[in-house]
Amino acid sequence: MARNKVTVIGAGNVGATTAQRIAEAGLADVVLVDIVEGLPQGKGLDLAEAAPVVGHDSRVTGTNDYADTAGSDIIVVTSGLARQPGMSRDDLLAKNAGIVKAVVEASTKQSPDAVLIIVTNPLDAMCHVAMQASGFPRERVLGMAGVLDSARFRTFIAEELDVSVEDTHAFVLGGHGDTMVPLSRYSTVAGIPITELLPPDRIKALEERTANGGAEVVALLKTGSAFYAPAASTFEMVDAILRDRRRVLPCAVLLQDEYGVQDLFVGVPVVLGAGGMQRVIEITLSAEEQAAFKKSAAAVQELVDKLPA
Ligand code: NAI
Ligand code: 2OP
Repeated sequence: MARNKVTVIGAGNVGATTAQRIAEAGLADVVLVDIVEGLPQGKGLDLAEAAPVVGHDSRVTGTNDYADTAGSDIIVVTSGLARQPGMSRDDLLAKNAGIVKAVVEASTKQSPDAVLIIVTNPLDAMCHVAMQASGFPRERVLGMAGVLDSARFRTFIAEELDVSVEDTHAFVLGGHGDTMVPLSRYSTVAGIPITELLPPDRIKALEERTANGGAEVVALLKTGSAFYAPAASTFEMVDAILRDRRRVLPCAVLLQDEYGVQDLFVGVPVVLGAGGMQRVIEITLSAEEQAAFKKSAAAVQELVDKLPA
């Protein structure tokens, strides 16, 4: 059986770490792409030279030429700019929209059957750009954010209760921004809702830390944003798709009437397996949760409306 092939665009922190995880799991051959000459080739070579020590047979290569990405099963898009001093959120939106459009057009021409996983921020708006640039059906355009946001919530819950992260499950829905919606009623330790285990004020504090999770890491790093947990989260999605695991994971997908939202990418639980998103899972939201979800969807819509035509 031929090996799977994954293209990772953007050989920066998230891209290179994702490539490392995929290769070290022996999940697929990986092609790293970047606009900077030598960067993907250098990181690709370095990762390839780790293979004999780690003990895997995945091939890792780096390139500036999209021809080398042909026939990929999955394309992960991490290319983009982080917000620079003096740059507004809208400037970042326009700049990254241009980058995502260009790399999605170039890569999907080479791999018309691939599943796209978008990571570049602002996440939900970039999914719209990718969908338009690729012309792919919604099943094959996914945004990574919910797995990361839920992982952060899981970490904080497990820490608070001093229990294993393995037994701790959590759901964070909505857009990847300040308005994300941590769903405590559906967050559990060994099946027990955390609302049974923690007082409301502690739950609220953990929810707020989760919504602020990206900023907390940026404030510490000062020169960049989180990449270990984002790469691990992206890997989980790649693994679910390539091995048709039918994992139930929160991902940004184009909603078509689910959760009362039409034609907007927002994070919701989906079944991920062969072919990408197999179905959206609709869960019942309380009036309060529904209102928070609507507010988050409205924040995504506001960004989408500002996308360059
Ligand atoms: P980074 O700056 O380390 O890497 C970005 C890479 O993109 C650089 O190597 C750059 O040369 C490359 N690039 C820029 N323009 C390109 C183009 N036209 N073609 C190919 N490559 C190009 O940034 P990092 O930390 O890897 O983050 C990448 C993106 O992912 C950012 O937009 C960040 O905000 C986002 N992110 C999203 C998360 C999520 O939950 N969705 C989590 C973490 C990061
Ligand atoms: C994060 O949540 C920057 O979106 C990125 O860490």
